[in-house]
Amino acid sequence: IAAENRSSKLFSFESVSYSSANDDIQLPPGYQWSVVAAWGDSINGASKNIAPDVSDTAADQESQFGMHHDGCAFFPIKVNGSESIKGLWVTNHEYTDDGLLHPSGMEPWTAEKVKKSQAAHGVTVSVIEKSASGDWAVVTDKRSRRITAYSPCAISGPAAGSVYMKTAFDEKGREALGTLNNCANGVTPWGTYLTCEENFNGYFVKTGKPNLQEARVGVNTKGFGYRWHEHDERFNLDKHPNEINRFGWVVEIDPQDPDAQPIKRTALGRFKHEGAVVTIAKNKKVVVYMGDDQKNEYVYKFVSKKTFNSANPIENKKLLDEGTLYVARYDADGQGRWIALEHNRNGLTAANGFPNQAYIVINARLAADFVGATSMDRPEWVAVHPKNKDVYVTLTNNSDRGSQIPLNAANPRASNSMGHIVRWSEANGDSAGTVFKWEIYTLAGDPNSTQAHLRGNVIGDTLGSPDGLWFDRRGILWTQTDISTSTLGKGAYANLPNNAMYASDPASKEFRRFLIGPKGCEITGVDMTPDLKTMFINIQHPGESPSERSDPKNTKVISSWPDKDKFTRPRSATIAIWRKDGKEVGL
Ligand code: FEO
Ligand code: CA
Ligand code: CA
Ligand code: CA
Repeated sequence: IAAENRSSKLFSFESVSYSSANDDIQLPPGYQWSVVAAWGDSINGASKNIAPDVSDTAADQESQFGMHHDGCAFFPIKVNGSESIKGLWVTNHEYTDDGLLHPSGMEPWTAEKVKKSQAAHGVTVSVIEKSASGDWAVVTDKRSRRITAYSPCAISGPAAGSVYMKTAFDEKGREALGTLNNCANGVTPWGTYLTCEENFNGYFVKTGKPNLQEARVGVNTKGFGYRWHEHDERFNLDKHPNEINRFGWVVEIDPQDPDAQPIKRTALGRFKHEGAVVTIAKNKKVVVYMGDDQKNEYVYKFVSKKTFNSANPIENKKLLDEGTLYVARYDADGQGRWIALEHNRNGLTAANGFPNQAYIVINARLAADFVGATSMDRPEWVAVHPKNKDVYVTLTNNSDRGSQIPLNAANPRASNSMGHIVRWSEANGDSAGTVFKWEIYTLAGDPNSTQAHLRGNVIGDTLGSPDGLWFDRRGILWTQTDISTSTLGKGAYANLPNNAMYASDPASKEFRRFLIGPKGCEITGVDMTPDLKTMFINIQHPGESPSERSDPKNTKVISSWPDKDKFTRPRSATIAIWRKDGKEVGL
């Protein structure tokens, strides 16, 4: 890497080089890491830890960390004047690999296994504390809890109580059981956690032809193979056609109050929610940026009707129930527009098939199609610069671009296998506004590739399939990758390491490799302590078998990280990262 590409003033760590043999965490010199909590660890230090033969029951799993950690956040707890030695640790558990979850995998398939699979989904709230040596451990606290795929969640906002939300189990349409496929996240200025429901369609099956609304979210006869419907009829759309409308939302959780129900905030729209990054606009309105992660889908934002007031915590908790949902259009001239998805605006009328706002938020994709939103290459995380409020979105990849769907200015590469990052500035720095100027920040790629369309224009280290994206308060743009296990180390990815994490400098656009994960993993989720001396990230699906769910006993896992010989199955885990010299991470 040329010296001029090593000019960032934001960070000075040494780029991590790699070898294909790596099956652990690799960091720059002077850094250390340790596991904080892996799948099956007790959420409070008191309940039982996972058994080596994974014979734990669904009830055991209800007080253990779930599977496949994803988005996450640290909420400080003040101890002796410090906010950086203890905190609430909240983490999503996106999905399960049932071949790994049960001693006998998916054969035979039983009601107890479905219940355990559901218990391994959702969110964990726990409390963690730093030791004198710098590592972190889970401690006992009354706030610790698991939220699973069957925990009662309130439904609020425009879809609550509507005809589309009512089911045989909930005649009022105001309380859903559970949250699932909790991918990325967000944190509000009033101290709550947002968990985002992504591939919710994968849990449902329907024998007949899906209707328009079902087809638009990908309902089919098999789902993704979770097979919950075989023992829990809620997931059988033939019997309970509205149940699916109760998933695909952003869900707000108060980590301080273990009795507070999670709340599905329907004003933010229903789609395959990746994350929900929150910022406060100049006029104090709350703005939430959100990606819909599927090929050719859209970028959205929500602007609250009322304003944030730090002195009014009770009112703040209602801010996400009323406001305007917008979808983005990225025009070829570099201008962008936010188009309101609001009943009787922009043609979203009953005559055009949009009878009311409940229907519009539930079928946000149909409304966004109608108003001419720009189709994107799988919008994943969004990040907002802490000072200038510029907005960045990862477009992870899209093999259909240029064939099934036309190229456009914001998605300019055919069969985009490496992905890219788009950034924009809202006009006048007004996050609540409706016009912006956008540009491509970086086309990911391998500068040494023999194929021009795979080279990209990355300044610094090779990068592919960007997914996790987060700004720390110094303005370092942390970028995490999710190259699928089936393509890792092959084809376009032949010269790239295992999934990794990079620091990027918005001024110079440099990307510098900070961490490489073990085999078969994805790096996702990140937060730091307020003193910036500890970073937390999640290692998701280490050792993932390329055949994954089609291998019902997961005999083909390619790693047993992090336990190695002690425990034969790989476990997703949160890790803490710190410097031996005690200075800020990333400097
Ligand atoms: Fe769950 Fe789009 O990542
Ligand atoms: Ca992701
Ligand atoms: Ca991804
Ligand atoms: Ca994932």
